[in-house]
Amino acid sequence: MLNLAQATDPGWVQRALADLDEVLIDHAHCEKKAASTAVSLLFRYPERHELLEPLSQLAREELEHFELMLGHLDRLGIRFYRQLPSPYAGELMKAIRPNEPERAVDTLLCLSLIEARSCERMKLLADALEEPSLRELYASLLASEARHHQTYVDLARAIEPDVDVRGRLRELAQHEASVIAASPEMPRMHA
Ligand SMILES: [Fe+2]
Ligand SMILES: [Fe+2]
Repeated sequence: MLNLAQATDPGWVQRALADLDEVLIDHAHCEKKAASTAVSLLFRYPERHELLEPLSQLAREELEHFELMLGHLDRLGIRFYRQLPSPYAGELMKAIRPNEPERAVDTLLCLSLIEARSCERMKLLADALEEPSLRELYASLLASEARHHQTYVDLARAIEPDVDVRGRLRELAQHEASVIAASPEMPRMHA
């Protein structure tokens, strides 16, 4: 259950396939960013014991995904380079409330939605791609991203059991849907 308020528009996968090299490079950046975001939360919340081991584990897994993507880029002869990121994550995070503990809950829930959107789009790629090893890659990664989605939701619940996490997740999912719908049509995982 991915908790997304709106499915990806069907044109996205066609645009992604038309500019696949750029999307694969962006995807490698996304894995690196996912690892660094998880690590940054270890620095921001060192006293939130519930977060430490799950986030450390998640960061390691995202770095493994990053290395996997680098391997595929090499195999396909695609050079990894700095790209202009999609505005998606920045726009999504604008909904995070500034004071604790709301800030922590909202951050974890926004991250859960990014994982959910990644997972949804990886499924679209797994179904649409022709190259067997890329199909396999996406079919295997999407299971991890679904699990990461759930991990972030569970962590939000664990740190603030009295907060209506489900209700807040619904609100943020609405916001996420409007952010992704308003994203420029760039060849990116989240655009
Ligand atoms: Fe990942
Ligand atoms: Fe992930």
